[in-house]
Amino acid sequence: MDNSLITFDSKELIEKALEMRNFSYTPYSHFNVGAALLAKDGKIYTGCNIENASFTPGNCAERTAFFKAVSEGVKDFTAIAIVGGPDGAQELEYCPPCGVCRQVMSEFCHDDFVVICAKSVDEFKAYKMTEILPDRFGPKDLLG
Ligand code: THU
Repeated sequence: MDNSLITFDSKELIEKALEMRNFSYTPYSHFNVGAALLAKDGKIYTGCNIENASFTPGNCAERTAFFKAVSEGVKDFTAIAIVGGPDGAQELEYCPPCGVCRQVMSEFCHDDFVVICAKSVDEFKAYKMTEILPDRFGPKDLLG
């Protein structure tokens, strides 16, 4: 892992993501995901996954965090921490962001945005936006 990517308090961000797993609403998958999104101004926006009996309206933890931030006027971000696993799991495996969430990140995030996938505060992998979604379709493709 490229440690130079971690220019912020990764422990605090992962801790907040872990806390958010307690709020996941997952009566169908029983797979709980928490996310914590660090804005450039230092504020952290959190999210959990929220499922629905009709399935399609369900929302991932990452998008919940992004939509909370953007809906409050915040659009500059440094990093996101993601943790996920089955309800009641003793130990977590890495939970990579789904393709839809990668595209939502891409809309707002520069190439150096950092995506942390964590098992715990001490065990995590960090990726740059460009690794998570290479050759991304973004605002510049439509707006120039
Ligand atoms: N999930 C997330 O919240 N984030 C991801 O990136 C992967 C999947 C959620 C969606 C659904 O509620 C559950 O995990 C199982 O797919």
